[in-house]
Amino acid sequence: MPHDFMPGLAGVPAAKSAVSDVDGERGVLEYRGIRIEDLCAQSSFLETAYLLLLGRLPSKPELTQFVIDITRHRRIKYRIVDLIKCLPEQGHPMDALQASVAALGMFYPGRNVTDQTNNYWSAVRLIAKLPTIVAAYARLRRGDEQIPPRDDLNFCENFLYMLSDTVPATILADTLDTCLVLHAEHTMNASTFTGLVTASTLADPYTVVASSIGTLKGPLHGGANEEVVAMLKEIGSPARVRPYLEEKLQRKQKIMGFGHRVYKVKDPRATILQQICERLFKKCGASPLYEVALEVERVSAELLGTKKIYPNVDFYSGIVYDRMGLDPDFFTPIFAMARVAGWLAHWFEQLRENKLFRPDQIYEGAHNRPYVPIEKR
Ligand code: ACO
Repeated sequence: MPHDFMPGLAGVPAAKSAVSDVDGERGVLEYRGIRIEDLCAQSSFLETAYLLLLGRLPSKPELTQFVIDITRHRRIKYRIVDLIKCLPEQGHPMDALQASVAALGMFYPGRNVTDQTNNYWSAVRLIAKLPTIVAAYARLRRGDEQIPPRDDLNFCENFLYMLSDTVPATILADTLDTCLVLHAEHTMNASTFTGLVTASTLADPYTVVASSIGTLKGPLHGGANEEVVAMLKEIGSPARVRPYLEEKLQRKQKIMGFGHRVYKVKDPRATILQQICERLFKKCGASPLYEVALEVERVSAELLGTKKIYPNVDFYSGIVYDRMGLDPDFFTPIFAMARVAGWLAHWFEQLRENKLFRPDQIYEGAHNRPYVPIEKR
């Protein structure tokens, strides 16, 4: 055996990167060296996206130009709208998003990924258009018309407007913006790795992002936020938390929104999301799910603390989105609207020193077996 086999590539570096860093023992997350707490308090999603993509904070004119570039590319072609209309309304929005992003690549081929200007505009289009696609599917699946973007609204105001046909209260748009900052990047996670594998074949960026969206959908990754809310609703009240968790753990089932491959303490994003919850509830009224969530965290610390399993980013994000009135199956597409910035930052990095991903395997099958003709089997 040439190398040690590491299931799930746990602890195996897949790339060198300067995009973000996690200290899982201390619970520290930095984007381009800046702590997530500082970005959430002082930055915006689009400024954070610029930081991730270009490696530094923009000057005022650079940020203004980037916001203009994004704003000008929010519209989607009517044929993409037609495509979304044809998708089954009972399907998952992540599948609609993946199919639409793959189709976008047919309108903007961008085959030459060595052209950096072309790559910049592909990144702008993807960051700009994902919210329009998500909002379009949300409306079209319930029989409403798609609402085109409004250039006088900022990134999050516009997304919430395209969903509901109403300009949202500032607290809602600001809350969503902070959530997008929090979800924009997270080192070598499963969806980022997927994107890098696809990028390493020199596939176009729409294909790269479509493959990452597919990976983010799974319940062990971004899909956990939707399941957390379902779990909290099923538990129903703080008094029912302990028997629910004890039974689940006895059956060797996972508690959704808990545990992380890298963090051995509470995920710093979960701490920030808790503060976001409290700020939102002060202005808009509390959510009954929050009391249940706090009790889940308390009892889990007793039951799972020795294994260093604590809340991750998905534990409190669903509660925020639920309180904002968003449908649970749209929580992960909103995650994708943010994470696309991180995926593209890693895509830029990969292209700078590309090497095709082609790992090895440990073959455990047979050799030299005879071929038995079908009539003799
Ligand atoms: N609930 C209960 N037990 C858990 C949990 C959990 N959520 N997570 C891990 N454990 C236990 C496992 O049962 C295992 O115990 P054992 O050693 O006694 O068998 C031990 O902790 C190690 O667990 P693994 O699954 O091997 O750890 P891994 O690093 O592979 O898992 C993962 C990380 C997938 C995130 C896991 O914690 C999990 O499934 N959590 C629930 C799903 C979830 O919240 N996913 C979102 C992650 S954040 C994100 O992707 C954005």
